[in-house]
Amino acid sequence: MAKSTLSFVCQNCGAAYNRWQGKCDSCGEWNTLAEEDTTGSVPVSIRSKRKGRTFALESLSGKTQDAPRLSSGMTELDRVTGGGFVRGSVLLVGGDPGIGKSTLLTQATSMMARAGHRAVYISGEEAVAQVRLRAERLGLADAPVQLASETSVEDIVSTLSEGAVPRLIVIDSIQTMWTDTVESAPGTVTQVRASAQALIRFAKKTGATIILVGHVTKDGQIAGPRVVEHMVDAVLSFEGEGSQQFRILRSAKNRFGATDEIGVFEMTGLGLREVTNPSELFLSERELGSPGTAVFAGIEGTRPVLVELQALVAPTSLGTPRRAVVGWDPSRLSMVLAVLEAHCGVKLSGHDVYLNVAGGLRIQEPAADLAAAAALVSSLVNAPLPTDAVYFGEISLSGAIRPVAQTAARLKEALKLGFGRAILPESARGDGGGDAGLALNSVGNLTTLVAEIA
Ligand code: TYD
Ligand code: MG
Repeated sequence: MAKSTLSFVCQNCGAAYNRWQGKCDSCGEWNTLAEEDTTGSVPVSIRSKRKGRTFALESLSGKTQDAPRLSSGMTELDRVTGGGFVRGSVLLVGGDPGIGKSTLLTQATSMMARAGHRAVYISGEEAVAQVRLRAERLGLADAPVQLASETSVEDIVSTLSEGAVPRLIVIDSIQTMWTDTVESAPGTVTQVRASAQALIRFAKKTGATIILVGHVTKDGQIAGPRVVEHMVDAVLSFEGEGSQQFRILRSAKNRFGATDEIGVFEMTGLGLREVTNPSELFLSERELGSPGTAVFAGIEGTRPVLVELQALVAPTSLGTPRRAVVGWDPSRLSMVLAVLEAHCGVKLSGHDVYLNVAGGLRIQEPAADLAAAAALVSSLVNAPLPTDAVYFGEISLSGAIRPVAQTAARLKEALKLGFGRAILPESARGDGGGDAGLALNSVGNLTTLVAEIA
C-alpha cells in the first residue's frame, strides 16, 4: 500500500510545499495553497523495480507519415490549429465562463460527426439534456454526435476504448474530471494533472484527437493547472470583450502550427458564425470623421487585419493623470506618450489618456505604435485624421519610425477595403509597397507626423 503523503499544493502553478503558507514562492499568488494527497498517480506495482523492456531506436530521417490532419469543418478553427486536428494530439481550450467554449466545441463535434467521423462530447458540467438543448438551438440536434455526462476518467477511457477509435473527443471541462489513482478532490491540481495525463495517454495510444476545455482565472491564465499547458500539444484561448459579439480564438502554443494565428467568430442567436474577413467586421462600426480614431493595418498570424484605434485625451482633474488601455500593451502606450512628450513637444502630463482597440481585438504588434500616436495627437488637438488612411510603423525611443514586416500584405488589405492612402515608415516603400495602388505617405520621424496632424 502506498504511503499517503499530504502536502500543500499551489492551485495556480502546482508547486508543492510541506507546510501551509500564505503566498506561493513559485508564482507569487496569495492564498492558493491547498492541502492535497500527492501520493503518486503511478500504482505501486509499476513503481516496484522491474527490468525495463528494450525498444527500437529510430533515426531522424525515417519515413514517418506527415502528421495526418483532419479538417474540423470550420475554417477559422482550422486556421488556429494550423490546418486541422492532428491525430493523437491534445488541445486545451481556455476562456472565461460564458464566452462560448461549449458552443464552439458543440459545433465542431457536430461538423465532424456529420462528415462521418466518430465524434464524442463528454460534459462534466452539464446534464445531457442541457447539452441537447444547446444543440437544438444551434440547429445541430440531428448530428450523430455521441454524448455523455460523465466525470470519471477511467469510465470514459473504458467506454471510448470500445468500438471504432473516436476521431474527436471533447472533454468539457478538465477541471470536472477525476481519476481513482489519486485521492484529491476534483478540480485540484493533482486531480487535474492526473486526469489530463490519463486522457493524453489515451490520445497518444489510439490516435484520437482530444480537446480539453479549461477554465480561466481572473488574470487570464488557464486555472490552476498551468501544468496542463505544458502537457498538451496546443493551447488555444477563446477571448472576447464582455458586451461585444465578436469572439477571437488565439493559439498561445501549438506544436503543429504557427502561434498567434487568430480565428474570428461572431456570437449570434444561432451559435458562432465564422468571420472570414475580420477587417470588415472590425471597421463596420467606425464613426467617420471623429477626432481620436486611426485605422491600424495590422497582421495577426498570417493574415492582415485592419482595426480602429480610438484615443481620448482630456485634461485631468487628478494629481496623477489616468492612463487606461484596452486591447493593447500599457507599457507600449507609456512609451509612445513619453516619445511624444520628449521629442515632439506634445504635452500630455496634464491629461488623462484612454486608448481602446475597437471590436475587442487584442493587438500585440509594436507596428501599432504609429496608429496609436496618430490617434492620440488627433484627439489632443481635436482634429480628425483623414478617413481613407491606414497607419502602421514602430516608433523607436528616439522618435524615428522603424519599418515593420509584411508591408505588402498590409497595403493589399487596405486597398481591398477601399482605403486610399497609407502612412508608413520610410524604408517600407521598397518592400513591395511601391505598386500597391495606394498613395504612400512615408514618415521618417514622429515629429513629421505630429506636424501634419496639428
Ligand atoms: P457557452 O458555450 O455555454 O459558454 P462557456 O462554455 O464558455 O461557458 O455559451 C454561453 C453564452 O453564449 C451564453 O451566455 C449564451 C450565449 N449563446 C448565444 O448567444 N447564442 C447561442 O446560440 C448559444 C448556444 C449561446
Ligand atoms: Mg461551458
